[in-house]
Amino acid sequence: MLSLLDRRLVVVTGKGGAGKTTVAAALALARTRAGGRAIVCEVGGGESVSRAFGRRPAGHVETELSPGLWAISLEPRAALAEYLRDRLGSSTVSGLLFENRLFQSLADATPGLRELVTMGKVWELAQPERRSDGASAYDLVVLDAPATGHALGLLGAPSTFRDVASAGPVHRQAEIIGGLISDPSRTAVVAAALPEETPVNETLELSAQLRDELGVELRQVVVSGLIPERFERSEVARIEASLSADGASPATDALRQALADHGRALEQGRQVERLREALGDDAVVTLPRLADGALDRSTLERLSQALERAR
Ligand SMILES: Nc1ncnc2c1ncn2[C@@H]1O[C@H](COP(=O)(O)OP(=O)(O)OP(=O)(O)O)[C@@H](O)[C@H]1O
Ligand SMILES: [Mg+2]
Repeated sequence: MLSLLDRRLVVVTGKGGAGKTTVAAALALARTRAGGRAIVCEVGGGESVSRAFGRRPAGHVETELSPGLWAISLEPRAALAEYLRDRLGSSTVSGLLFENRLFQSLADATPGLRELVTMGKVWELAQPERRSDGASAYDLVVLDAPATGHALGLLGAPSTFRDVASAGPVHRQAEIIGGLISDPSRTAVVAAALPEETPVNETLELSAQLRDELGVELRQVVVSGLIPERFERSEVARIEASLSADGASPATDALRQALADHGRALEQGRQVERLREALGDDAVVTLPRLADGALDRSTLERLSQALERAR
């Protein structure tokens, strides 16, 4: 896992509820423990990471949540206004775009514009020398990307614009942003996944789509929520024998539950194995299921340490 943290940009995607935000924040935290500055970029306005740290939503503003750990909720309108201000050196046009109606009609007329300017801001955050006035560089930018289909649209927007605009500033800028996304030495794409059959199938599809549609390799799958395998095979046999011998008692209920959990753990293990076979051992790491796994600071700290240890 540690090699992921040497990149400038880590993109975390996966199915809804698969642990994207958790993994994104845990990776950023791990980077801060190594002494760096890291920022988690959320899209869609949920601001779960800020909330996990007990903060109010701050919108499109870089906000420090704990020493070295930053968060921003990316807003396409603000990102475009910022870009134009940087390019034109004037706030007149960019100020106009703060008017929601104008941005709305521009975005409606230009499919993919929201995605392009969002990735433009991610690119800007990842620059070793920031373009924004007085802004400090980050050692790592983690994009908490939307669920799979939308994430492909987001990551693919720069290359689409590069191809549509055959020359000029949009072509050049889109090429630069797309260049960051497709450079494996600077960017790694990570999928969060649950250890179940359908999510594993979807993760394998995602891997193929990333390669076919974007020419990008899925670098790492983080499978979250593994329950421990509690028993040896011989113990399972003994428990089963005692269950068929005894009548009902409080102890048999507990044993049945324990056996059922064990069965689920074995099935999870099989699903992880499918991922390993398809993508390679090194591409898959697992995180335990925490009993009290709310998206809060203590969960993130614990999972982040587990990620650092994972290999
Ligand atoms: N290893 C874990 N153990 C226990 N709970 C976990 C674990 N990983 C994630 N969770 C919990 O699962 C829930 C979903 O995780 P998370 O919000 O990170 O998923 P997501 O993919 O970002 O979801 P969404 O698609 O809604 O953005 C959260 O409540 C989170 O705290
Ligand atoms: Mg999320």
